[in-house]
Amino acid sequence: MEEIKKTRFVSPEDTKRQAEAIARIKADSDRYLYENGMRRKAFVMTLGCQQNEADSEKLAGMSEAMGYEITDIPDDASLIIVNTCAIREHAEKRALSIVGQYKHIKAKNPELVICICGCMVVQEHRIRDIKMSYPYVDILFGTSSIHKFPELLCEKLKVGKRVLRADSGEYLVAEGLPIKRESTYKAWVSVMYGCNNFCSYCIVPYVRGRERSREMSEVIAEVRELVERGYKDITLLGQNVNSYGKDGGKNYDFADLLYELDKIEGDYLLHFMTSHPKDATKKLIDVMSSSKHIARQFHLPMQSGSDRVLKAMNRKYDFEKYIGIVDYIREKMPTATITSDIIVGFPQETEDDFEDTLRALKRAKFDMIFSFIYSPRKGTPAAEMEGQIAPEIQSERFERLLKVQNEISLASNKPYEGKTVRVLCEERSKNNESVFNGRTEGGKIVFFDADDSYTGRFLNIEIEKADTFALYGKII
Ligand code: SAH
Ligand code: SF4
Ligand code: F3S
Repeated sequence: MEEIKKTRFVSPEDTKRQAEAIARIKADSDRYLYENGMRRKAFVMTLGCQQNEADSEKLAGMSEAMGYEITDIPDDASLIIVNTCAIREHAEKRALSIVGQYKHIKAKNPELVICICGCMVVQEHRIRDIKMSYPYVDILFGTSSIHKFPELLCEKLKVGKRVLRADSGEYLVAEGLPIKRESTYKAWVSVMYGCNNFCSYCIVPYVRGRERSREMSEVIAEVRELVERGYKDITLLGQNVNSYGKDGGKNYDFADLLYELDKIEGDYLLHFMTSHPKDATKKLIDVMSSSKHIARQFHLPMQSGSDRVLKAMNRKYDFEKYIGIVDYIREKMPTATITSDIIVGFPQETEDDFEDTLRALKRAKFDMIFSFIYSPRKGTPAAEMEGQIAPEIQSERFERLLKVQNEISLASNKPYEGKTVRVLCEERSKNNESVFNGRTEGGKIVFFDADDSYTGRFLNIEIEKADTFALYGKII
């Protein structure tokens, strides 16, 4: 039997080294403030998923602790951090093009320090690209070194040379890092890191290491503090939250964690993502359905409706098992929204396989899906498979998939017309000054007239109109 490894945490010596680095840079920053009458600024650019957003909030938190003010204007910054993603080719191209643009800022301001970090630069070939073709990148580090950022920045500022540090491959849990949260009412809380699943198309296990969970007491303390500070919408994060607690030495699982968190008193909603269907348990759904604060929302990536493709993807469930979970969620929580991820054009996907996916969509009736054209990732088994699908066929299937799902999404939104729903009011819409957007408990987007005083509050909205992608209504 494989030995169950105990989760390992960042050592006290390492934590002390980072604290010393933070203090040294802070002293530098304070001197700069004294001499120039303004703070040094840091700009953080985030690509990729919510885990990266959560990591960026830690990088911003550490930057602030080192005396930097966070700016959203890259040209004003003395420190630019690009937190990259590797999930599809498009994400990597974007990261490289963004870093390319910062070359011009560096030309104007030689003092600028440019860092590149995150999933893309865990890969050897990308580290090589940065070394060779992006000489103005000063610091490079992977996802296992986020907590070491102060030390790396200190090395760059004191020694002046490039600090291009490939990951040690030692993936730990770091607690106690400062977090600069983007929002005052919505928050991410990572409950675990990494992934053990090795879906054959996916780069994540190679760039985020194996699964490791935070202690339940740490997660509870963080969520409690957020609720006390008035946060209304808290999303628990992990690549596969259903594996929470399974990484050895713990006697609790994700359902237990939700059960304990739900006891925290206050006016808030808990979301979580992502659930892997292979271990979404009845216990979890039962805990949700009898909870007070856990949102009736399930993001359950199906990826394909064809059993043959699911097997080739190494997903470890078939459609029957998948739809059984969907049915059980609806039985226990009839109002729950269910969303999914679908990949189109996986190697060897036949027309029949694809039609299985269309049929599956019609059967599952998701409120919404995130759909992706398969993108080969270097080093994953699927990238080496024979029968890669031609881009024209992929695009044609993708369009057909959207058409089928759009009708389903519209049909799932229409029943909201005339109903009153509780919505968390978010920001002003970019196109229309008086229009705000918000989300229902199930994550549906709602547009309505409001003003800034409503942002971050739960409102009752009467829905007047529903279309494929959103609901429209008024405050009552
Ligand atoms: N851990 C989550 C998903 C993380 S990645 C889960 O297992 O559900 C988010 C989504 O990106 C995946 O669900 C998948 O649909 C998509 N994806 C991952 N790798 C991909 C690839 N190589 N090409 C296209 N889409 C991909
Ligand atoms: Fe990728 Fe699969 Fe892990 Fe999700 S569960 S991150 S798709 S390997
Ligand atoms: Fe991208 Fe890394 Fe997330 S590859 S999707 S940022 S885990």
